Amino acid sequence: NKDELFSFFHNIGLVPVVKIDDAEKAVPLAKAMIDGGIPCAEVTFRTAAAEEAIRKMSEAFPEMMIGAGTVINPELAEKAVNAGAKFIVSPGLNPATVEWCLERNIPVVPGVCTPSDIEKGLSYGLNVLKFFPAEASGGVNMLKNLAGPFPQVKFMTTGGISTANLGEYAKAANVLAIGGSWMVKADLIDNDNWAEITRLCKEATCALQGFEF
Ligand code: 3PG
Repeated sequence: NKDELFSFFHNIGLVPVVKIDDAEKAVPLAKAMIDGGIPCAEVTFRTAAAEEAIRKMSEAFPEMMIGAGTVINPELAEKAVNAGAKFIVSPGLNPATVEWCLERNIPVVPGVCTPSDIEKGLSYGLNVLKFFPAEASGGVNMLKNLAGPFPQVKFMTTGGISTANLGEYAKAANVLAIGGSWMVKADLIDNDNWAEITRLCKEATCALQGFEF
C-alpha cells in the first residue's frame, strides 16, 4: 500500500529518474542501482522503451520498487501498471490520471510547484506530492515557504538536484525523498557504464548519510 511505499522511499531517501532508450539495458541498469544501494527507480515514459524496461526490471527484481514517471495521461498509467509499475509519477497534476490511479488503489505522486497545485492534490487526499521542477521553482527556499500553509504535505523533490546540493533538500523537514537523473544519466546507460552508475548511487547514498533524514 501507499504508506509502505512512502516509508520505503524515505528509508532509501533517493529515487533515480531513468530515461532508457533500449529495454535490453533494463536488467543491468537495475542491478547497477541495487549494487549502489538504491533498489528503486522511476522509469520515465520519455522513450518508447519505458514500458518494456519496467516489465523487465520488475520480472528480474520483484523486490525492487519500480514505478513509472512522466505519466501524463491515464493511457500511459495503464500501460505502466500492466508492465508492473508499483507507483505512478507525473510532472504535473492531471486530474484524469490521478482519478484513474485512485480508482484502482495505485499510488500516484503528481507533480506540483504552486500552492494551487498543492490544494488540488490535497482535494484528492494526496499528501505526498512531487515538487518539480525543484531548483527552477525556488528550491529549498520554496519548500520552506510551502511548509507554512501545508504542514501535512511531504514532497518528493526532483529537477536540478545532484550530490552537490542534495544536502540542502535533506535538511528540509518536508522532503520525503530526493529524486533525479544524475545517478543514472542516459549516456551512462547508453555506454553500459554500470560501474559508474553504481558509484554515483553509492556516492549519493553516502552524501545523504550525513543528515538526519
Ligand atoms: C524528473 O522528471 O523528475 C526530472 O526530469 C528529473 O530532473 P533532473 O533530470 O534535473 O534530475
